[in-house]
Amino acid sequence: MRAKALSLLLLLVATTFFSDSIAIDSIDQTASITGNSTLVSARGVFRLGFFSPAGSSDGRTYLGIWYASIPVRTIVWVANRQNPILTSPGILKLSPEGRLVIIDGQNTTVWSSAAPTRNITTTHGATARLLDSGNFVVSSDGSGSPQSVAWQSFDYPTDTQLPGMKIGVDRKNRITRNITSWSSTTDPAMGSYTFKLVTGGLPEFFLFRGPTKIYASGPWNGVMLTGVAELKSPGYRFAVVSDPEETYCTYYISSPSVLTRFVVDGTATAGQLQRYVWAHGEWNLFWYHPTDPCDSYGKCGPFGFGYCDASQTPQCSCLPGFEPREPEQWIRDASSGCVRKTNLSCGAGDGFWPVNRMKLPDATNAMVHAHMTLDECREACLGNCNCRAYTAANVSGGASRGCVIWAVDLLDMRQFPAVVQDVYIRLAQSEVDALNAAADAAKRRRRRIVIAVVASTISGALLLAVVVCFCFWRNRARRKRQHQAETAPGSQDNVLPFRARKHPDLSSAQDQRPGESKTRGQEDLDLPVFDLAVILVATDNFAPESKIGEGGFGAVYLGRLEDGQEVAVKRLSKRSAQGVEEFKNEVKLIAKLQHRNLVRLLGCCIDDDERMLVYEFMHNNSLDTFIFDEGKRKLLNWNKRFEIILGIARGLLYLHEDSRVRIIHRDMKASNVLLDRNMIPKISDFGIARMFGGDQTTAYTLKVIGTYGYMSPEYAMDGLFSMKSDIYSFGVMVLEIVTGKKNRGFYDVDLDLSLLGYAWMLWKEGRSTELLDEAIMDDSCDHNQVWRCIQVALLCVEVQPRNRPLMSSVVTMLAGENATLAEPNEPGVNIGRGTSDAEWSQTQTELTMTATETR
Ligand SMILES: *[C@@H]1O[C@H](CO)[C@@H](O)[C@H](O)[C@H]1NC(C)=O
Ligand SMILES: *[C@@H]1O[C@H](CO)[C@@H](O)[C@H](O)[C@H]1NC(C)=O
Ligand SMILES: *[C@@H]1O[C@H](CO)[C@@H](O)[C@H](O)[C@H]1NC(C)=O
Ligand SMILES: *[C@@H]1O[C@H](CO)[C@@H](O)[C@H](O)[C@H]1NC(C)=O
Ligand SMILES: *[C@@H]1O[C@H](CO)[C@@H](O)[C@H](O)[C@H]1NC(C)=O
Ligand SMILES: *[C@@H]1O[C@H](CO)[C@@H](O)[C@H](O)[C@H]1NC(C)=O
Repeated sequence: MRAKALSLLLLLVATTFFSDSIAIDSIDQTASITGNSTLVSARGVFRLGFFSPAGSSDGRTYLGIWYASIPVRTIVWVANRQNPILTSPGILKLSPEGRLVIIDGQNTTVWSSAAPTRNITTTHGATARLLDSGNFVVSSDGSGSPQSVAWQSFDYPTDTQLPGMKIGVDRKNRITRNITSWSSTTDPAMGSYTFKLVTGGLPEFFLFRGPTKIYASGPWNGVMLTGVAELKSPGYRFAVVSDPEETYCTYYISSPSVLTRFVVDGTATAGQLQRYVWAHGEWNLFWYHPTDPCDSYGKCGPFGFGYCDASQTPQCSCLPGFEPREPEQWIRDASSGCVRKTNLSCGAGDGFWPVNRMKLPDATNAMVHAHMTLDECREACLGNCNCRAYTAANVSGGASRGCVIWAVDLLDMRQFPAVVQDVYIRLAQSEVDALNAAADAAKRRRRRIVIAVVASTISGALLLAVVVCFCFWRNRARRKRQHQAETAPGSQDNVLPFRARKHPDLSSAQDQRPGESKTRGQEDLDLPVFDLAVILVATDNFAPESKIGEGGFGAVYLGRLEDGQEVAVKRLSKRSAQGVEEFKNEVKLIAKLQHRNLVRLLGCCIDDDERMLVYEFMHNNSLDTFIFDEGKRKLLNWNKRFEIILGIARGLLYLHEDSRVRIIHRDMKASNVLLDRNMIPKISDFGIARMFGGDQTTAYTLKVIGTYGYMSPEYAMDGLFSMKSDIYSFGVMVLEIVTGKKNRGFYDVDLDLSLLGYAWMLWKEGRSTELLDEAIMDDSCDHNQVWRCIQVALLCVEVQPRNRPLMSSVVTMLAGENATLAEPNEPGVNIGRGTSDAEWSQTQTELTMTATETR
């Protein structure tokens, strides 16, 4: 017995000793890797060895690196991607001169690494070590110190950029690093898609399909890549470095336990650069480009001068001073591009018009003069007949340094609010004058509010008398002025020289076609414009008592119009620099959205820099005041709650799929659902999110608007929003309505679970109906219906946006008793928590600042 036990123990010791579990992380010139043996990095993050691609059956093997700690084999680097070993097993060796060599069964060299950049010390010899960063490093003296690196796999990336890896060029060591997709899921050979730096002009990164540019990051202006929304995740930092020795982009992760990678995926229908984060046992896609049609390179015309705006229809517009070459076709097909309204005179007589909030045009063929001032730049542009535009080369620190001159077509511009840099477009002086006149006309129409000050000092009847008189006078004067303004050329506000959200020329052309000003009066009936005086009377001069809420976009007041109708007046905060006409256009658009489950916009009021929206008043306040209130929640029985859920779903369906324009709400939450007298739910604040999202100053645009707890992981972390992020918020809201608990406030300490986690746990255990709010006392409630709501909600909060159903299916699933529902997967919550607490709470503060509760 004892002998047997001893031998067992010995066996155990022996297997432990010789098996992988005491993995080594390096080889020297005497050792080799072959067959199933592998290297594992010191902390067990990565593994290096021979592998056959999953799904391949022809026996090809490759030397590669993959994650050691996750069950899904994810290859991040392949040595011999073009030269598979056909007769296994392969052997990896380190040659005396410090080259890594793979030989096959026939002793043929299949692959060898480039010559080491450092001489190998003869005393110690070279060592090849797999690091926890995923870098496989040959060091010249075995020390592994950065000074001794003779060769590293990070210099020869495959299709994956790991944290710390650089994409770009190292001029000193003559290394170009790019990443290229696999040719198929089973073949790591070079595929058609490559992400790489293109130098010349300003640094810019491109995704190529073969020789064709399909996506551009936008030029680097010293602050940002002008076409890439900052990737905001706790513990994540992105950097571009451009100096004489090197130009590259890279990124860092502060917590080593977060596994993340960028990869060029050639298997998506079109190639994509994607960022994945490992969470919940799978790779989650958190960011990708190209994202929308405006991302496709040169979308608005191969001849330049057009720009793209994904929030508009049509998405393509011409720059100011330009018009579509073929106006009839423009709406369907912008490929014919834009032409100047007035030809340049070349030399004296040309001027410039600044545009901003734009992704800069492709600048790889632009001329860059690092030491010119902006004035010198302007002169240089005027002196060159081919110059079409100029801008500063480096706007780091808010200053403008250097000069970029485009003597080529302006390609690949798109509306992009985060860019605060002006690009000066060269136009004939007459065009510049016309644009200036249009801007001035808009300015003249604005007046100061005097009445607000006066009114507050004069009391009661006197006030009313004054106001009424003023009101009459104003109405008449305004009509007169409006008529004048409409017949005057142009109608653009000039707070900013040019805002790209809507084409100023197209809109003014629409607005002032001669002889149409009368019919426009009729059109205005769609959208009553309230006089400020009327609003002042209605809200008792914005009396503090009439204030009923404070939202992210401004305060809300209860008002009573002359005819007794109660209205809610939302006084928008003044941070918007939107022009009057644009504001009206947007509001008109929203006013046309009418649905039983949307709050109705009755009109607006524009006065000087005041912007107000007038809504129908909802007597029962917002949904959160019911479901989260100890007393009032009892008033909502299950049937009522189900009707509310269905109503919200229908309202959202209308916004997403059925209205004239697609509206992403971006801030769906219980406090944004209002209840009318009959407890019919009405979504509020729709459209405003959209209007303001694209229209804010940089500081706001870079911040995610929304409310934590309702935000989908991809939106909260990367600012990526879509219908699917609204659907996520909807899912959260349904769980809240069912449970009567706030997602944000609920936290089960014993189980360490959030509301979503708790719902998921009960779901898995088949106990979902226990989620039902205990305040719902009627036992008659339909448990199947409750169950179905929870299942739909869980489908809506799945981590992968593509797995979440569209609103149309949500409505069908909720309403249809017999609809078969998919099985939900574990819900997605923001995985950032815990990785870096400092940054997390900072983000949170920013969020609460921009997303104050509405009521
Ligand atoms: C390598 O591992 C595979 C699967 O685990 C096994 O079938 C094979 O025999 C192993 N080869 C060697 C040489 O150990
Ligand atoms: C393999 O080839 C190398 C040189 O090509 C030679 O030195 C070595 O002896 C060969 N080994 C075997 C086992 O054939
Ligand atoms: C390696 O040594 C040789 C001769 O000793 C020398 O000429 C060469 O420059 C060295 N190379 C490097 C990369 O240091
Ligand atoms: C990517 O870089 C490698 C050198 O590292 C180069 O051989 C290859 O041609 C590049 N690919 C593309 C598409 O530029
Ligand atoms: C931009 O200017 C800043 C401040 O002078 C400087 O640190 C940075 O290197 C410049 N960037 C480029 C790309 O020249
Ligand atoms: C403007 O230039 C284009 C091409 O150079 C020419 O065809 C066109 O006639 C010019 N238009 C005017 C009004 O001079």
